[in-house]
Amino acid sequence: MSLLRFGCVLLLLFGHSLGVPRSFSVDYKNDCFQKDGKEFRYISGSIHYSRIPRVYWKDRLLKMYMAGLNAIQTYIPWNYHEESPGRYNFSGDRDVEYFLKLAQDIGLVVILRPGPYICAEWDMGGLPAWLLNKKDIVLRSSDPDYIAAVDKWMGKLLPILKPYLYQNGGPIITVQVENEYGSYFACDYNYLRHLSKLFRSHLGDEVVLFTTDGAGLGYLKCGSIQDLYATVDFGPGANVTAAFDAQRHAEPHGPLVNSEFYTGWLDHWGSHHSVVSSTIVAKSLNEILAVGANVNLYMFIGGTNFGYWNGANAPYGPQPTSYDYDAPLTEAGDLTEKYFAIREVIKMYRKIPEGPIPPTTPKYAYGTVVMEKLQTISDALEKLSFSGPVKSIYPQTFTELNQAFGYVLYRTALPVDCSTPTPLSSPLNGVHDRAYVSVDGVAVGILERNKAITVNVTGKAGSQVDILVENMGRINYGREINDFKGLVSNLTLGKDTLLGWTMYSLSIDEAVSQGLLGELKPTDAPQPAALSLPAFYEGSFIIPDGIPDLPQDTYIKLPKWRKGQVWINGFNLGRYWPSRGPQVTVFVPANILSTAAPNNVTVLELEGAPCDSGPCSVEFTTTPILNATVQSDYKQHRRLFAKDDLF
Ligand SMILES: *[C@@H]1O[C@H](CO)[C@@H](O)[C@H](O)[C@H]1NC(C)=O
Ligand SMILES: *[C@@H]1O[C@H](CO)[C@@H](O)[C@H](O)[C@H]1NC(C)=O
Ligand SMILES: *[C@@H]1O[C@H](CO)[C@@H](O)[C@H](O)[C@H]1NC(C)=O
Ligand SMILES: *[C@@H]1O[C@H](CO)[C@@H](O)[C@H](O)[C@H]1NC(C)=O
Ligand SMILES: *[C@@H]1O[C@H](CO)[C@@H](O)[C@H](O)[C@H]1NC(C)=O
Ligand SMILES: *[C@@H]1O[C@H](CO)[C@@H](O)[C@H](O)[C@H]1NC(C)=O
Repeated sequence: MSLLRFGCVLLLLFGHSLGVPRSFSVDYKNDCFQKDGKEFRYISGSIHYSRIPRVYWKDRLLKMYMAGLNAIQTYIPWNYHEESPGRYNFSGDRDVEYFLKLAQDIGLVVILRPGPYICAEWDMGGLPAWLLNKKDIVLRSSDPDYIAAVDKWMGKLLPILKPYLYQNGGPIITVQVENEYGSYFACDYNYLRHLSKLFRSHLGDEVVLFTTDGAGLGYLKCGSIQDLYATVDFGPGANVTAAFDAQRHAEPHGPLVNSEFYTGWLDHWGSHHSVVSSTIVAKSLNEILAVGANVNLYMFIGGTNFGYWNGANAPYGPQPTSYDYDAPLTEAGDLTEKYFAIREVIKMYRKIPEGPIPPTTPKYAYGTVVMEKLQTISDALEKLSFSGPVKSIYPQTFTELNQAFGYVLYRTALPVDCSTPTPLSSPLNGVHDRAYVSVDGVAVGILERNKAITVNVTGKAGSQVDILVENMGRINYGREINDFKGLVSNLTLGKDTLLGWTMYSLSIDEAVSQGLLGELKPTDAPQPAALSLPAFYEGSFIIPDGIPDLPQDTYIKLPKWRKGQVWINGFNLGRYWPSRGPQVTVFVPANILSTAAPNNVTVLELEGAPCDSGPCSVEFTTTPILNATVQSDYKQHRRLFAKDDLF
């Protein structure tokens, strides 16, 4: 230890006397990082700008700085910036340059993880779904089509980032290549080598490139190559010595780095909310810092999977809208006991900045909003399907229909009389991911990937069968990331394959924000109580006068509603599914609310709203509920804390 310090101090004196420019490097001799010729150790926290409204970036970064962190880590989700090939978006909430500038202004350096794959419980691990236009593409490998797309994207992205490298005057000290590649089956060293060369060609020879893998030799084997500094990730409760021994196996010298120290854990619909105690987080963090290691706390603030951005794990288990993660700052950026516990630990190793910590942002309960039923999806088809229907004998996937997210309506007719209940099935489990089935305007059942492959139907030959298929989020981890959506295999009725499909790509977000949805026609068939047709509902509320500092953040709660999507003023807040849990409330950031006009709440309820038999409402509350497990069935298959992986 003392030798190590001596070496670094010498370099410092030497460096300063020569007036060296800004520099950042790995010091293999002294097992540390060097920043401007001085020994440097980072204590970092993960924050994903794509999960936080831009207006709150500064508040969250400042809270991280005040916790004693000197660095942040963020991912760049490719699919967030290039939603369709060659159409890039770096503005508003996607303005990553502005995010980097804010971090630097506040005094935080940045550990950047630009992918191309990021995992992150984000749709398809950040890869754009349009990569699946080549049906048998091998993602995260040397597949030439994949490489061509990566080269083009990185050719756009990396030149934007280059001025923000530390040595060029910016905040970025290190850049991760790929993400836990050693956990992926392909184990394609040529791919990693290609990325390494690609990153160097755009960013230069000086930048510190690194990889991150589980803290076990099995992961490091396929995850690390020469020229990329190998780091590990592990959570509280792991044997810190053993975990860093694994890193030492790949990197005999250089700084010890835990790139993902888990402060909490992810959730899935239908399983219990993950909670990790502050005590165990603080204890493990202390052990990591005591051995002189660098650490990144994943997550420091999780934020929200707005819209359709959540991912899923395999066997298929989608993640909810909230990415609270039980992190030290809540989804809404609130200070927690864990925040202060972590701050106390950091205090023992670094001088903590003085001055007030920005307070928890106030919340406001706007009360109850009465909702009225608008059209069903089937009624509103003309307004929702901008491009008109596509016809084919067999069903097509979302990809074939050129739709990335949301919902597609598949329509066909019963080929024969079904006077007795006849099974309508997806024998190959090809409903990706959930389908709402109706016959002649009457809801008859729900199909769900891995859970329900058959519903019984009755009806005369020629009856209209409408199947609304929901993409609940693409798998973001493992070998099943080529996750096609829609009806990905044929449906059968009895023994026959259903043929002759008319498919409607639905532009629901556009229709909602343009206010295109009309009122319910009274001619709609009455629905059986158990289930009703997927339909829109709308209500509005006014922000009261005379109360200072409104609008404020809030949470929307949909008591007795079952499953769907919710928008306010056209902003897609995400999915709600209180009938499965654990998440019950959906975070509503103040920046989408208006004091100038009534605020419009739009709900797409897929299974049955409480207003099908009378008036119904939604509520705004100041307290989040993320832990109300209603139905627990999802088996956790992803490793938790990598505890079992050590040697
Ligand atoms: C780019 O993204 C921002 C933030 O999500 C959004 O407001 C804007 O409409 C997008 N621009 C385009 C051209 O899609
Ligand atoms: C932690 O791992 C080290 C190195 O493998 C081992 O010597 C030590 O006994 C372990 N500690 C515990 C508490 O298991
Ligand atoms: C369909 O109906 C058959 C015969 O009535 C019954 O045995 C079966 O359980 C039903 N299946 C479903 C999924 O409801
Ligand atoms: C449906 O079945 C036909 C005939 O077997 C087959 O050619 C087609 O690929 C299948 N479609 C899907 C989406 O599986
Ligand atoms: C809500 O919808 C009404 C009617 O379309 C519109 O006049 C109003 O501006 C909308 N409110 C907001 C905040 O966009
Ligand atoms: C949910 O979390 C709240 C707040 O932390 C806690 O009071 C409550 O006991 C939890 N409920 C369950 C079912 O775990």
